[in-house]
Amino acid sequence: MSDLEILQKEALEAVNKAANLASLDEVRVKYLGKKGLISSQISQIGKLPPKERKNFGAIVNKAKVAVEQSIAAKKEILEDAALNKKLASESVDVSLPIRNEQVGKIHPISRVIDECVAILADMGFSVEEGPEIEDDFHNFTALNIPPNHPARQMQDTFYLPANDGEDPMVLRTHTSSVQIRKMQEGKPPFRFIAPGRVYRSDYDITHTPMFHQIEGLYIDKDIHMGHLKGCLHQFLKAFFEVDEVPLRFRPSFFPFTEPSAEVDIGCARQDGKITIGAGKDWLEILGCGMVHPNVLTNVGIDPEEYQGFAFGLGIERLAMLKYGAPDLRNFFDCDIRWLNHYGFSALNIPSKTGGLA
Ligand code: DAH
Repeated sequence: MSDLEILQKEALEAVNKAANLASLDEVRVKYLGKKGLISSQISQIGKLPPKERKNFGAIVNKAKVAVEQSIAAKKEILEDAALNKKLASESVDVSLPIRNEQVGKIHPISRVIDECVAILADMGFSVEEGPEIEDDFHNFTALNIPPNHPARQMQDTFYLPANDGEDPMVLRTHTSSVQIRKMQEGKPPFRFIAPGRVYRSDYDITHTPMFHQIEGLYIDKDIHMGHLKGCLHQFLKAFFEVDEVPLRFRPSFFPFTEPSAEVDIGCARQDGKITIGAGKDWLEILGCGMVHPNVLTNVGIDPEEYQGFAFGLGIERLAMLKYGAPDLRNFFDCDIRWLNHYGFSALNIPSKTGGLA
């Protein structure tokens, strides 16, 4: 056997033995690489006497082609094997039982806020936010509740510790403070709602120290109580999903509105159950009024030129009326069983199902 034939035999054996793609490539480099054992034989051809060149060239070339073909064939085998191994290790056992996944629920408070936002957004109200830790000016004074005024006692306030000589900050007692902040920041007209948490020192079956409100404000030229009534009428019909709901405006008092009204809706009470929209009973639902000229003046708006209405909704009250939950405190107990019962599917989005439509 010539040296070349031995080399070819060796190379083919090495290809045969290669157990994976990496070692196969090492064999390729060893024999066919730039400085490989077979490649270097090829570069010898030119140095041979012309008579021998042809014969030697043919043998070297034959060896080269044989090794190349054998490497290509082996490569295919190894690649197939690697793929099969991967497929086997990644196979899915469809007979396994599914994992018991916990699906979350939307809290009724979040749900009711989303519903109110969807309806009021359809009416052209944007959504604004303000801080929950508020100063005296925005929570009280600018809303026409002067220092030492008895109206301050209407809302049992949480005060934060204050530095000497400074007014204490408060946990906002209502979302009306957002009216002041937004009117200070911008220029009329204003048409927004402000949902959020509010705080009062109170705790019983119908009161929790933290609860939620939505403030509404519409300021423009020529806005009057007819607009307020029409807006609330549309809102309440859409929220309670009834074709008609009787409305009653009862004179009331809020320092930041004049005139002020408490709004009642018609309902029927029977066996402890309330049906909204029909019957001869009344249910108090929200407070509202025409924004007091002093409030507008406090934020630099001329009340002779601009006026409008405001309203304040209690979210928990709306949630209890629409979805029924006897004790307000349960809303904040964080009991997962309660949430599973009273909560909502995350896939049922009010902006798709609700609004004014
Ligand atoms: N801020 C009032 C409260 O917390 C609710 C309210 C009443 C807001 C009348 C208003 C309004 O904007 O016009 O009790």
